[in-house]
Amino acid sequence: METAIEVKPKILNAFAEKFGSSEGVRVFFAPGRVNLIGEHTDYNGGHVFPCALTIGTYGAVRKRDDRKLRFYSMNFEDKGVIESSLDDIKPLSESEWTAYPKGMIWTFGEKGYRVETGFDLVLYGNIPNGSGLSSSASVEVLTGVILRELYGFTDITNQDIALFGQYSENKYNGVNCGIMDQFAIAMGKKDSAIFLDTATLQYEYAPITLHGASLVIVCSNKKRGLGDSKYNERRSECETALSEIQALVDAKSLGELDEPTFEKVKTLIRDDVRCKRARHAVYENRRTISAVEALRKGDLTTFGQLMNASHESLRDDYEVTGIELDTLVDEARKVEGVIGARMTGAGFGGCTVNIVKDSSVDEFIEKVGNAYLEKIGYAADFYVVSIGDGPCEV
Ligand code: GLA
Repeated sequence: METAIEVKPKILNAFAEKFGSSEGVRVFFAPGRVNLIGEHTDYNGGHVFPCALTIGTYGAVRKRDDRKLRFYSMNFEDKGVIESSLDDIKPLSESEWTAYPKGMIWTFGEKGYRVETGFDLVLYGNIPNGSGLSSSASVEVLTGVILRELYGFTDITNQDIALFGQYSENKYNGVNCGIMDQFAIAMGKKDSAIFLDTATLQYEYAPITLHGASLVIVCSNKKRGLGDSKYNERRSECETALSEIQALVDAKSLGELDEPTFEKVKTLIRDDVRCKRARHAVYENRRTISAVEALRKGDLTTFGQLMNASHESLRDDYEVTGIELDTLVDEARKVEGVIGARMTGAGFGGCTVNIVKDSSVDEFIEKVGNAYLEKIGYAADFYVVSIGDGPCEV
């Protein structure tokens, strides 16, 4: 995958080509993310354990004197330059990719940081689109950093930008996502994952040392958009289940329950499907806590087993995997040297994350790749990834 040094001249050239010159242009970067464990727990007040990647989104940007906004994405060349204005920013009004940067401008305004002049922006991303590696949250955090740096909103922290990104996603784009993606991206740290309690936003960095193993992401190439997925439905199922349980237990979220308490009160949930959803949220949260404990002790085997259990729960109880992700995980587990394999992100397509012994990576790619192609009919893509830092100016 290309480095920032390689991307910078490329994006500056594209800027000059589209917008006249690259004089005074600044280039920023925000990563993508992968979640190691703790899936669909963030909007349930539970724990997550994601990390930022060295792949992400680059933005070349220059302020304007008027209220115009001009956008160009090197990933969507066919869309050309998209023109807009600061006077044309309305929540829930658009389906173009520009909804992400515009949502952030809107959110900044809502939070008291008004942007009064426009900008020209060229984007280039090397996160596979719709892969569940948070290309949209990456654009949100990138835009947040750009607005802070260009317009002098110096009191805004990276954590604020994460919260603004989530707000924008919820209110401007209508997806009721949790805080995980934006937080992982805005707060990323090289070679560490972030153990985040989404109820309190307390977090700790945990160094990821895989001792002769690698993090391999497999993209199913089954496209997924949160908006048209069952994401919001899962969230409301959990909320209903919680309200039923609250008749007996004083808990503000499913994340506050341990397994024995859940087993005692689950009969209050008046629907079997809803009960399964809540069970996933409770058990996945506990698995995440145990997984981080195991990692701290250097016990990668237990960490991998918990990743596997996470996938099973997402498949059977939360029902967000599907044949593509299940095939990738089933085939991965047949390869010796695979320590753990699970879907990552919202599900319904997207990617799996795997911890694979270095000596088995080639075999893994070959065997899983062939079996997937044969069963599903199109190819999966493989990425051996590194854990990177949060956003920066390039
Ligand atoms: C998406 C959302 C996150 C989180 C995951 C599932 O990535 O944006 O907030 O809920 O799905 O863990």
